[in-house]
Amino acid sequence: MSELLIFNIGELVTAEGGSALPPSRVRLKVFKDAGIFIKNGRISDIGPSGDLIKKYGSSFSIDVDGMVVVPGFVDPHTHLIYAGCRHDEFLRKLHGESYVEILKEGGGINSTVMATREAEEEALVELAKYRADLMLAGGTTTVEIKSGYGLDYQNEKKILEVANRLKDEVPQDIVVTFLGAHTIPVEFRDRREEYLELIVSRMLPDFRHLAEFTDIFVEDGAFSPDEARVILKKAKDLGYGIKVHADQLNDLGGGGLAADFGAVSAEHLDYVSSESLKKMSQNGTVGVLLPTSTFFMRGKRRPPVELFRRYDVPMALATDHNPGTSPYYSMHSAMVFGVLYFGMTPEEAFLAATLNAAASINRGNLLGTVEVGKQADLLVLNTHSWVHLFYEPDRNPVEVVIKRGRIVYEKGHHS
Ligand code: NIG
Ligand code: FE
Repeated sequence: MSELLIFNIGELVTAEGGSALPPSRVRLKVFKDAGIFIKNGRISDIGPSGDLIKKYGSSFSIDVDGMVVVPGFVDPHTHLIYAGCRHDEFLRKLHGESYVEILKEGGGINSTVMATREAEEEALVELAKYRADLMLAGGTTTVEIKSGYGLDYQNEKKILEVANRLKDEVPQDIVVTFLGAHTIPVEFRDRREEYLELIVSRMLPDFRHLAEFTDIFVEDGAFSPDEARVILKKAKDLGYGIKVHADQLNDLGGGGLAADFGAVSAEHLDYVSSESLKKMSQNGTVGVLLPTSTFFMRGKRRPPVELFRRYDVPMALATDHNPGTSPYYSMHSAMVFGVLYFGMTPEEAFLAATLNAAASINRGNLLGTVEVGKQADLLVLNTHSWVHLFYEPDRNPVEVVIKRGRIVYEKGHHS
């Protein structure tokens, strides 16, 4: 039986609950001088530090000396598995070309597709491990990974298999999403119905055991709402959970479409409309916001956070890690940008990176808060108040990462 006592916690900060909380219910609990007792990877007791020392003092323990403890961050939207790099395209964009122009020319997503198709599975595993390691140092204990840089049967399968292999290769929990509908691959440009057919009749059924969710990029240059309906219907019939890349660069009603399909989340949403937000609110669809992506793209529009509050739509945050629009690793950065760039409150952003992020991948009952019964995924932050996450926006305060009750990262120590 493995046991761990964490004591002398200056501030233990957490939301409470097992499902996504909308803006009207955003509350954080702050416990001073707390302790946490962990047994078999789960949180088993929380209380005043002194009481827990008396009860469990003989167990293996860590004195955190007044530091802050928070739930491990959940990154619920990444495109972690790819080869190659797009710095050349980044430069072109900074000189005035647009993302959609480059995408329509066969660049953008398709240039990463070419590099990823050429890469061996082993090479992709090593690249993804390196990236997951950087994420761990920033406090990310759970990562959702989308495929979408293969765009043919064999290469989408290869990416999904790499994502599944990572479950045994990195400390984080990995949640896998099939995004075969990321864009139309170059070779199918003039036969898009054939690519759709390939997704619907072969990839979706055959990949069911490799992915928990299906996602689709609904956008000019990617898939239309009508095409999305065909794919999402099939995915739903097969029992996948649904996620949608929605309203990133234009309002195509993607948020509402996601809600119509009972999606657990609609993601990006820089251009989301009030109608879509109303539907998302009714269906309990979480809005996953990706501020580092908008920032990196120098987007003209940011998600209407005020309308999320008006319609009471739960907000989550993610890095959107990918080589085109968001080469970011850090949920801390996503939180900082959520607050200082998108206008979320610090409490909203904290919830968005923890419980609401967990809920947006259907893990709200297991992850995202520090409560008895939840998995013991915790961060020790080297600071005296959680507000320093925002007040010192470019200092990574993560000192120790605990995953399922085990120390998996300590600043300055390398395993
Ligand atoms: O989330 N929006 C679509 N997919 C990614 C970008 C992928 C790429 O440019 O390679 C995103 O921004
Ligand atoms: Fe994305």
